[in-house]
Amino acid sequence: MEKIVIEGGYKLEGQLPISGAKNAALPLMCAGLLTSGGLTLHNLPHLADIKTLASLLTELGGSLSYQDEGWDIGSGQTVTIAVDSITSTTAPYDMVRKMRASILVLGPLLAREGEAIVSLPGGCAIGNRPIDLHLKAFEAIGATIELKDGYVRAAGKLIGGTVHFPIVSVGATENILMAACLADGTTHIENAAKEPEIGDLANCLVAMGAQISGIGTSHLTVTGVPELHAAEYTVMPDRIEAGSYAIAAAMTGGELELLGGNLPAVMTGTLDILKEAGLVFTETDRGLLARLGSPKIKGINAVTQPFPGFPTDMQAQLMAMMTLCDGASVITETIFENRFMHVPELCRMGADITVNGSTATVRGIGRLLGAPVMATDLRASMSLVLAGLTADGITEVNRIYHLDRGYERLVQKLESCGAKISRQKADLI
Ligand code: EPZ
Repeated sequence: MEKIVIEGGYKLEGQLPISGAKNAALPLMCAGLLTSGGLTLHNLPHLADIKTLASLLTELGGSLSYQDEGWDIGSGQTVTIAVDSITSTTAPYDMVRKMRASILVLGPLLAREGEAIVSLPGGCAIGNRPIDLHLKAFEAIGATIELKDGYVRAAGKLIGGTVHFPIVSVGATENILMAACLADGTTHIENAAKEPEIGDLANCLVAMGAQISGIGTSHLTVTGVPELHAAEYTVMPDRIEAGSYAIAAAMTGGELELLGGNLPAVMTGTLDILKEAGLVFTETDRGLLARLGSPKIKGINAVTQPFPGFPTDMQAQLMAMMTLCDGASVITETIFENRFMHVPELCRMGADITVNGSTATVRGIGRLLGAPVMATDLRASMSLVLAGLTADGITEVNRIYHLDRGYERLVQKLESCGAKISRQKADLI
């Protein structure tokens, strides 16, 4: 086990490359199952979750060949996913429990093989995260669903139909979108999620020969085709990583140029709130400059919403910054039922936060104090790293395997911009 050790109080300045988006890369990799032609993905981030999914795809019959790329914009891995034939339609429990996004193999397997047996992912730290919306969507296009021994088996010939989501679901939208590409007939997906990662997936599927209209809107129309062909696609930049490092620049009183594609276009909800908090953004020819434009961080009211609202994946990081705000802030989490686990850890660093149901009230204090803290989930861990960067003294973040799931080369990136940060062997279990 390792920990991250940070000596707080150093300004972050310089250029920081933003990696390919984890939440785009994962569904894009699953799309590789839909064709025997081979799918080549560029700018794939070097992350634990990518490795976990790669091993699952191999288990299902895929063979993956890699080529590493450097540090510049659009860096990351290039991988070709070749699935000449599916050799297994089962995603086993020990793989799915490690990474719930494995559920995204269900739609492609069902579409290509007429059957998918996937372990129920179970809950995780931030909520019980059911998959009922995924399953109802598959039934709406002809699949039969049965649950047995902790697995879901979906089977049948897919016929175009109408899928209406009662609530917005990123994963369910992605799953049904992939399956509908090979269904017989046209599928309408209503109240589809509009996160940019879904646009990335849809654009990649179109490059593979899928017929999709309404991309970027909440109504997607998919006309099934007999098969999809080979394609190449570049993963979009990670808007959550970019937002996290913009906050790092503001909290340390520095300035960072975030290097990546057209970040503002995919960061709307995030930029609105961060600007309200006093951050100033300037577009450059290589990316986006971020710094705090006011003497102190301004208090805000933020409510997490589906895109284009303020993203739930930025909530913990925003809260870390609001611990230092002028006055008070109110942050309401509407997407997940248990996404405030960073609160007790931030309070151990001196933060003044009270939680009442899904709302946290954060009263600004002068300084955070370094302390040993425990990461509980991916974004909570980033929240603690951000707090450590500005706290007085030393902060040790334990259980950083959570961080490795979603932040590529975090220590190297922060160190290169002036942070006093390192990975060390953990003494806490
Ligand atoms: C995706 O999770 C992301 N993960 C999450 O990012 C992100 O927080 C979430 O979307 C919301 O934006 C990936 O893309 C791999 P949902 P997903 O289905 O698809 C409920 C991170 O930190 N729901 O949009 O699982 C669900 O419980 C991760 O990178 C059902 O009730 O999220 C939640 O309350 C964390 N039934 C809400 O919908 C279902 O069948 C939104 O979930 C599915 C979801």
